[in-house]
Amino acid sequence: MTNSASKPVIKPIVVLVSGRGSNLQALLTTASAQQWEFELGAKVVAVVSNRADAQALDVARMHDVPVHILEHERFDSRAAFDDLLARTIDFYEPQLIVLAGFMRVLTPAFVRRYVGRLINVHPSLLPSFPGLATHRRVLDAGVRTHGATVHFVSDAVDAGPIIAQAAVAVFPDDDEASLAARVLQQEHRLLPQAVRQVLEGQVRDERQGKLLVANELHS
Ligand code: GRF
Repeated sequence: MTNSASKPVIKPIVVLVSGRGSNLQALLTTASAQQWEFELGAKVVAVVSNRADAQALDVARMHDVPVHILEHERFDSRAAFDDLLARTIDFYEPQLIVLAGFMRVLTPAFVRRYVGRLINVHPSLLPSFPGLATHRRVLDAGVRTHGATVHFVSDAVDAGPIIAQAAVAVFPDDDEASLAARVLQQEHRLLPQAVRQVLEGQVRDERQGKLLVANELHS
């Protein structure tokens, strides 16, 4: 008789989303292509959205990933929202929580709870251009190099130890859409790569605003 039992998921991943879900799609596609479940014991076990109309929910459903919708407007305070968000996440005992286009600022208490386990993808070369509308602001500033960053999340918005970055050129005839598309292409490559590095213990957040890489890690 063959043993059809699948490997236990020892590294559950929860992904938080708000919109389109292309980064979620990239993560799920890479996880499947690289057999993360078998190779790393890692799997996206849940997707949580703060918007009921997020296309990312369809992406999750297409991959048979359970979804949770917590609409932030329905909560009296940021703390109340983050509290239920944390309880929803904790049910899955995740090794990693990935913010993949999650457009909510999280409370310091929430960030502290998941220190070293919370990572974000941001469409700029941090620490330049934190916040919203990065492509517009890059064009307005006349910057010639732009890009994407994956980083551990800290109390400040779009800050924390940087795990990976990718740069793209800004061309004279670029508009917001063309630049966004070029950066997004890099995000889709960078995010799964960085998630894998963290899952494999190649990098670790050591909370001093710096990152420890594999050859600096002491087990
Ligand atoms: C990405 O550019 C991400 O960096 C930013 O919002 C966008 C989300 O895109 N925070 P998607 O939902 O992953 O398609």
